[in-house]
Amino acid sequence: MISTYALPLRRALNTSLDYLERHDDAPVSPTVTRAELWERLARPLTDAGVDPETVIAQLATDVDGGLVRSGGGRFFAWVIGGAVPAALAADWLTSVWDQNAGLYACSPAASVVEEVAGLWLKELLGLPASAGFALVTGCQMAHFTCLAAARNHLLAARGWDVERKGLMGAPAIRLLTNDQYHGTLPRAIRHLGLGTDCIVPVASDEVGRLTASALDDALRTASDVPTIVHLQAGDLNTGIFEEFGTLIPIAHEYGAWVHVDGAFGQWAAASPKYRHLLTGVERADSWATDGHKWLNVPYDCGYAFVAHPEAQRAAMSHRASYLTHADEARDQMEWTPEFSRRARAFATYAAIRQLGRTGITELVERCCGHARDLATHIGALPGAELLWEPIINQGLVRFPAEGAGATSADHDRRTDAVIAAVTAAGDAFFSGTSWRGMRCMRISVSNWLTSGADVDRAVEAVRRCLERTADHPA
Ligand SMILES: Cc1ncc(COP(=O)(O)O)c(C=O)c1O
Repeated sequence: MISTYALPLRRALNTSLDYLERHDDAPVSPTVTRAELWERLARPLTDAGVDPETVIAQLATDVDGGLVRSGGGRFFAWVIGGAVPAALAADWLTSVWDQNAGLYACSPAASVVEEVAGLWLKELLGLPASAGFALVTGCQMAHFTCLAAARNHLLAARGWDVERKGLMGAPAIRLLTNDQYHGTLPRAIRHLGLGTDCIVPVASDEVGRLTASALDDALRTASDVPTIVHLQAGDLNTGIFEEFGTLIPIAHEYGAWVHVDGAFGQWAAASPKYRHLLTGVERADSWATDGHKWLNVPYDCGYAFVAHPEAQRAAMSHRASYLTHADEARDQMEWTPEFSRRARAFATYAAIRQLGRTGITELVERCCGHARDLATHIGALPGAELLWEPIINQGLVRFPAEGAGATSADHDRRTDAVIAAVTAAGDAFFSGTSWRGMRCMRISVSNWLTSGADVDRAVEAVRRCLERTADHPA
């Protein structure tokens, strides 16, 4: 039996090491077309199956060139982290051990590791030790978990048991927010049956933060309506943080629930240099963040924290006579939206153990430094313009079209064309976004592997593309 595993696992190990060792020289971008991938991967579905080592060997060959090297140091698109070695190895073991981390009875070790990881995360992120938590697939499900708790709490305060009665006939909940929220917020709202019409945009200042007076006005209007206030710790384009110290007490004055999206920005708490951006955030009611972004835990790994554990538990809890429940220990399904689930705490535990407090601080500060260098150096190139110098790890540049008569549509086209050209060249990978009505190239750094040399190479790649395409304005 062991040898049945040995061959495919050894093959997977060798393939993994080959793959990881090529991060420095291989193109970051895919090099094959969808049609080529189809041709390779759409093999006949066999009756007899294929021996496992061949399956792994062919899978590795067939996907070659079709993977994005987002785990390497030259990937700056969206917000995608890599995987520190201990987390990656623990993630493998998670598959080997194949625990169902829904109940303590299914895996005492997975349950205890999750409790320990939860405590460490709260300490690192500057959140109350008493908060409930859940390890979920990503920030999307962290929003869902947190807002399910909010829904429970706000409606219970109005005598409505939403877990039993549902939403039909319940007092309508509204959600106040600035208009820069990430798309996972309305998705969570949809999953929860609240409907996106419940989102009420509130005026923000010139950098997109809710203003205290606008929030106060919005809360005073219909002050009896159950209300969630959504605040951002790290806007997806600019990394801007809201004024938590001012806004949270105002929201609480009106009995609102404050939910914070800190998908990556919450990790600023791990750095003495950046922690001030989060002042007062610990007074919120729930927080959503990720492990697969800045902590460099492999996908998929997000974290939900709830200041009112009883509301989280009421929203998630499940008991059944055929299950073995543990009153003294953590039955994860009491806190998470999933029932059966991957023991994803092992990888988080391993990442935190490998990096330690100082390693996480350095990771955060190093990424911020690289993001600043990338944005300012690219922004200073002929044919480029710096739009947003990073305050943490997110920056924006654009590439205006040449010529006195160039319109904003020309600038947008040119910017998208340069991003596409850089990506196609394969030395660095960036993504685009729209900000203040302009197309921009987004610069985002959250990978532990990114080095000064990667930054220089990426700047040089953009310079070459700008030069090459200068005669052909998009
Ligand atoms: C600010 C913000 N919130 C939420 C998310 C969603 O995170 P996930 O993809 O882990 O669900 C992202 C993803 O980039 C984000 O940047």
